[in-house]
Amino acid sequence: MRAILMVCLGNICRSPMAEAAMRYHAEKAGLDIMVDSAGTAAYHIGKAPDTRGQQVVLHNAGFEMGHFKARQVQAEDFNHFDTIYAMDAQNLRDLEHIRPANSKAKLSLLLEEIGQSQSVADPYYGDISDFETVWSQVSAACEAIIREY
Ligand code: 4NP
Repeated sequence: MRAILMVCLGNICRSPMAEAAMRYHAEKAGLDIMVDSAGTAAYHIGKAPDTRGQQVVLHNAGFEMGHFKARQVQAEDFNHFDTIYAMDAQNLRDLEHIRPANSKAKLSLLLEEIGQSQSVADPYYGDISDFETVWSQVSAACEAIIREY
């Protein structure tokens, strides 16, 4: 089974939404994929996703993510997942730093899947419209990943 890890800074805004988008599109396509998310930082370990993100995901996908719990990414994740997607360029640099030398996991920016070498902007200090933008970006990227399976 393919295993995909979505990573941002806090694991409460962007990466849980990307995890939800991946689960949503995989289920729609009838594909069994292992999906998880994590943060490079430890600030929010154990917390549920930001309620604004929960609201946007519920509204757009009918997907409930209140039970998700934030965790910090570990070096071992590079052995458990085939692909690790970073939400932004800083996350990518931080992941490259903890990546074990013998790791086979593919590491890239999520939006490269839709031909954009750009970051998913951090919506933490923004408003609900910023979370809507995150959803449209991560959803389009996950849909593209599923289409290539
Ligand atoms: P995320 O957003 O990385 O998309 O989960 C953030 C969450 C928390 C903080 C920054 C970004 N923070 O500074 O606490």
